[in-house]
Amino acid sequence: MAVLEHITSQEAMALENKYGAQNYHPLPVVLSKGEGVFVWDVEGKKYYDFLSAYSSLNQGHCHPKIVNAMTEQAQRLTLTSRAFYNDMLGRYEKYATEYFNFDKMLPMNSGAEAVETALKLCRKWAYEVKGIDINKAEIIVCKNNFHGRTTTIISFSNDPIARKHFGPYTDGFIKIEYDNLKALEDALSSNPNVGGFMVEPIQGEAGVYVPSENYLKEAKALCEKYNVLFIADEVQTGIARTGKLLAVDHEEVKPDILILGKALSGGLYPVSAVMASNEIMNVIQPGNHGSTFGGNPIAAAVAIAALEVVKEENLAEKAETLGKIFRAEMNRYIKDSTIVNSVRGKGLLNAIVINDDEDSDTAWNICLKLRDNGLLAKPTHGNIIRFAPPLVMTEDQLLDCVSIITKTLKEFE
Ligand SMILES: Cc1ncc(COP(=O)(O)O)c(C=O)c1O
Repeated sequence: MAVLEHITSQEAMALENKYGAQNYHPLPVVLSKGEGVFVWDVEGKKYYDFLSAYSSLNQGHCHPKIVNAMTEQAQRLTLTSRAFYNDMLGRYEKYATEYFNFDKMLPMNSGAEAVETALKLCRKWAYEVKGIDINKAEIIVCKNNFHGRTTTIISFSNDPIARKHFGPYTDGFIKIEYDNLKALEDALSSNPNVGGFMVEPIQGEAGVYVPSENYLKEAKALCEKYNVLFIADEVQTGIARTGKLLAVDHEEVKPDILILGKALSGGLYPVSAVMASNEIMNVIQPGNHGSTFGGNPIAAAVAIAALEVVKEENLAEKAETLGKIFRAEMNRYIKDSTIVNSVRGKGLLNAIVINDDEDSDTAWNICLKLRDNGLLAKPTHGNIIRFAPPLVMTEDQLLDCVSIITKTLKEFE
């Protein structure tokens, strides 16, 4: 079969099953086109995308401005490596650091790479600025975190599936309860070797857990008290998803290290970044860290356009308004529902909790029915379904989606 010949859904899935590693369990739907809030499968059926590639497509599928920036740049210069300067990276770094109000950034590709970058940066700062004894630095993280899939990152995960048989694990991490300031203060006060505290402002993969009000603000204050870097992993929550540019903005917290990915490119390209002050970032010297593709000209052009779209189209405000409507509508439904226990979230990062066991397949079956009814979403952790549509959605489209979701849920009552 020629690679670009037409293919049916069954054929496409069979190819992935035969030739691909089975490291995912996708919903059985084969997509071949996307535009704004919609995607189409290879048979031409249209769906609302209610996952947005785990919050990467905040600007919508194939946003024309970002596609244009990408294709123009792709015809001019794609990759230089960092062996040479290129005429896009510096412009991007100026634009993005001013946009997020940091002194400097370090460009990478995937979210996990940016997390690794932040951890290395934090450790180096801990030795060279804070003065912790060599190889003694520790970083506090939270239980049920999701920061990616590298060997170091899964070392401090408590997801058995992500960890099992991937040891030996990387040392130097202390795990505490999420949303528990006492646990944070205990860990900070009992250990002078802590260099940083890394946290998701909302735990997305764990099931969209929103911490108590002021948790982030008070956690940052504790970090300041103990001279520890506050590291915000905003790979999923950042770039307008939760109703502000960053989720930490809800509490007016400025992280010492900010980690971004996913929607930094509007879903066109793997673009991630770590941002920090001069004092912190200047510990990194030539040869300490890098990536062949990190900061390449296409990534730079795409990210500038993607960030411009967020401002030009007021995506944070849209997420805030639409999120409130979504939760209000879902709560109205939940009042009389036996199948849904609750809805939670911020902006357009939300989840519903299905009234069934964690290991039941009810949420999966609901997602299959949602698919049949024209809306794509995916369970996260058994009985929780995450809802994260593109932020370019209109109110009418959102209400249409609510009616698809409630109609589908009714079939399970
Ligand atoms: C909070 C957070 N950090 C890091 C990552 C890893 O990003 P990537 O899959 O691009 O490596 C994710 C991915 O879902 C995430 O949600």
